[in-house]
Amino acid sequence: MMDYEKLMSENVRTLQPSGIRKFFDILDTMKDAISLGIGEPDFVTPWHIREAGVYSLEQGFTKYTSNAGLIRLRGAVSDYLKRRFDIDYDPARVFITVGGSEAIDLCIRAMLNPGDEVIIPVPSFVCYGPLVTMANGVPVYVETKAENEFRLTAQELRSAITPRTKLLVLPYPNNPTGAIMERGDLEAIAEVLRGTDIMVLSDEIYAELTYGQTHVSPCNIPELYERTLLVNGFSKAYAMTGWRLGYVCGPAPIMKQMLKIHQYGIMSAPTTSQYAAIEALRNGDGDIETMRDSYDKRRKLMLKGLRDLGLQCFEPRGAFYMFPKIGGYGLTSDQFCTRFLQEEKVAIIPGTAFGPGGEGYTRICYASSVENIETALERLGDFLGRLRN
Ligand SMILES: Cc1ncc(COP(=O)(O)O)c(C=O)c1O
Repeated sequence: MMDYEKLMSENVRTLQPSGIRKFFDILDTMKDAISLGIGEPDFVTPWHIREAGVYSLEQGFTKYTSNAGLIRLRGAVSDYLKRRFDIDYDPARVFITVGGSEAIDLCIRAMLNPGDEVIIPVPSFVCYGPLVTMANGVPVYVETKAENEFRLTAQELRSAITPRTKLLVLPYPNNPTGAIMERGDLEAIAEVLRGTDIMVLSDEIYAELTYGQTHVSPCNIPELYERTLLVNGFSKAYAMTGWRLGYVCGPAPIMKQMLKIHQYGIMSAPTTSQYAAIEALRNGDGDIETMRDSYDKRRKLMLKGLRDLGLQCFEPRGAFYMFPKIGGYGLTSDQFCTRFLQEEKVAIIPGTAFGPGGEGYTRICYASSVENIETALERLGDFLGRLRN
């Protein structure tokens, strides 16, 4: 008999599966349940973008592309970043990946030596810590605070830095809190990093989804530009999660190393998706506007609904999540969400799935129909009523 447990990589075997999955396993067994759990747009990819993918297939473009991606797409990314965010990267410093996810993995693997530390503000998206662990690095979690609007402060950053710090993740606009970093916040971060060799991995997958202000990237701060690896993608801005396409931009010597990992592990990002993405970048600004306006309406509806139920909730400034406080009912976040799903058939995610600091909170995705949001709020009212009695 093979003892598979013993054979496995220790790094992988000891990794916890994502705390989000469990809720979908329960959800799958239920009829008429509402999911405000998964973090993806509820729109179908706009037709002109799908059509560009279809047309590429009709033309027979079914082969690998160059490792770094179609040069026309890299050029389109370069133009897009300049036009939308005033960021300069020439096409040679852009490469195309399998989602923002692969881009994040490449940054981490290309940068880390065993024992190197990566500072990760939490609560945040689930992938950073596990990817650091798998690259033999050490995740150093910094808990951001509701009273600071879940921004990373200079003081919090300063106290997390050690001689082993290699990388700082800046996950803004943030999943799950909806926090953003403004120019002044980033300038304060730049001040702390001045004189160090610490690089920044800026995950800007929600850059297009900010409400009331334009996204500011670390690349817009002159002192941060040369130390930043910018990750972005098509999933959230263009409702293209299933196309699996993203990109990374950064200093040429680092990109060269990342490209080797991509070359050996991936070859090239999906070809059909790359053709569709050129169309998205060139002619998709209007779609972004329409979808963002629609999320914004639902954001306001959900925020009002939660506050009317007596829950404390920070007003999210980006992405499409609410992060209300649900502590104080004698339940852990996990118990709260599990019972809410079982008793009211609505899936939301415990804050603890997003790292330390998430206890007492839940993430609710409002990229769902107004009808679903209204029903979910009614059911939440009933549930809270029972907990309060
Ligand atoms: C903050 C954040 N970064 C990256 C990703 C991954 O996106 P992609 O579909 O581009 O791999 C997600 C997906 O939920 C996310 O929330």
